[in-house]
Amino acid sequence: MDFTKKMLRDDALSDKVIVVTGGGSGLGKAMTRYFMELGAKVAITSRDLEKLQKTAAELEEETGGVCLPLQCDVRFYDQVESMLAETLKKFGKVDVLLNNAAGNFIAPTERLSANAFDTIIDIVLKGSKNCTLAFGKHWIDSKQESSTILNIVTTYAWTGSAYVVPSATAKAGVLAMTRSLAVEWAKYGIRSNAIAPGPFPTKGAWDRLLPGDLAEKFDMAKKVPLKRVGDHQELANLAAYLVSDFSAYINGEVVTIDGGEWLKGAGQFNLLEAIPEEMWDQLEAMIKAKKNK
Ligand code: COA
Repeated sequence: MDFTKKMLRDDALSDKVIVVTGGGSGLGKAMTRYFMELGAKVAITSRDLEKLQKTAAELEEETGGVCLPLQCDVRFYDQVESMLAETLKKFGKVDVLLNNAAGNFIAPTERLSANAFDTIIDIVLKGSKNCTLAFGKHWIDSKQESSTILNIVTTYAWTGSAYVVPSATAKAGVLAMTRSLAVEWAKYGIRSNAIAPGPFPTKGAWDRLLPGDLAEKFDMAKKVPLKRVGDHQELANLAAYLVSDFSAYINGEVVTIDGGEWLKGAGQFNLLEAIPEEMWDQLEAMIKAKKNK
């Protein structure tokens, strides 16, 4: 099976202008690349303009598409408004907001300063709120017929997770915003959806979340029923579908793409996976023997 195959036809996003926050590297870059391959014009944003410029040049060369690098710290509403204005100046419109920018680190919660907690909440929740509010107001004021917000959350947005509590708290808020606005802003033609990715290794996140030899000690692939981590193209395929018109009737949905990872941790008897095949005959006999007594 080749799960690195590209899913949509070449012109699937040819009329779209897309803004990807945190588009300079990692998964944001992978999704941007595919959007451009499908004909979209994409603005990528982050705090690091130099990195964005490098990525934009690389992706333009690779895909023959158009990529606009825009410096923007999503924590500040005035910077988000300027980023939106620059996008409109360059492309004349914007159709899709992909809230991908995030910050995270592992730590026991009691070790966090108030500022450390705030930093993650500000990037993830306030940043997504700032972009969503600015873009939403623009779409409503300009009476744009249709537009889409796609938020990158995580499966621990609903399960919670130890050691990444600020991120879990913030992502839960983004999930609530996704579902709330799916209803409230549908009348303006704005769809809101989210993707909850499981392990999709990127250098940036992996070095932060599994530093040193933790990556070897905690092999993420082993936690996944499908026994592998995700390929970036699989996420890009899903994101492209959810921002395209092919998903026009999907609104308020959160699509989990994690190989079954979170459910493996949830099912009460899932640990029986550890029982070897040959032992099941013995167990079955023991259970039946009890019944016949
Ligand atoms: N453990 C505990 N506290 C930490 C920490 C860690 N590993 N890393 C940072 N902090 C604290 C800092 O000490 C600081 O608090 P203080 O002022 O009370 O000392 C606070 O967090 C802010 O850190 P700072 O480095 O100033 O913030 P920043 O805005 O430059 O960086 C981060 C934000 C920390 C999220 C940084 O990792 C980042 O920029 N990440 C972006 C990309 C990313 O995380 N992607 C992950 C996707 S999963």
